[in-house]
Amino acid sequence: MRVLVLNGPNLGRLGRRQPEIYGTTTHAELADLCVAWGAELGLAVEVRQTNHEGVMVDWLNQAADDRTPVVLNAAAWTHYSYAVLDACAQLEAPLVEVHLSDPSKRPEEFRHHSVVTAYAVEVVAGHGVGGYRMALEVLARG
Ligand code: DQA
Repeated sequence: MRVLVLNGPNLGRLGRRQPEIYGTTTHAELADLCVAWGAELGLAVEVRQTNHEGVMVDWLNQAADDRTPVVLNAAAWTHYSYAVLDACAQLEAPLVEVHLSDPSKRPEEFRHHSVVTAYAVEVVAGHGVGGYRMALEVLARG
């Protein structure tokens, strides 16, 4: 089974971006880990990251067309992007929402709402990069 792991804005700087919150693993290392975990779980994983909302919508629309399961960390778009919400609403294969931190426990009020959750079969938050493995396990279980 093919799975897309889609990461939104500022996640390209993982490892250097606020490591006290997001950890020291870089995005390239996270991508390698996801591919390796996927192989163990029988999943062909492709990891992408973009800072551009329209690019993310295009990827999600393609996943809808192809019925590809998605692991999505929409990063800040999680909290306000109705374009991402509408794109998630069109997915037919399972969507797992993932966050490195647990936005619901962070002090900024704006992080407490997710436009993605309503369309996700599961939310994995606060487990750092290991959360991506947990998200892939959800999809592998089917
Ligand atoms: C994040 C949490 C979001 O609130 C934040 O905007 C991010 C990363 C996370 O993985 O913890 O960019 O999605």
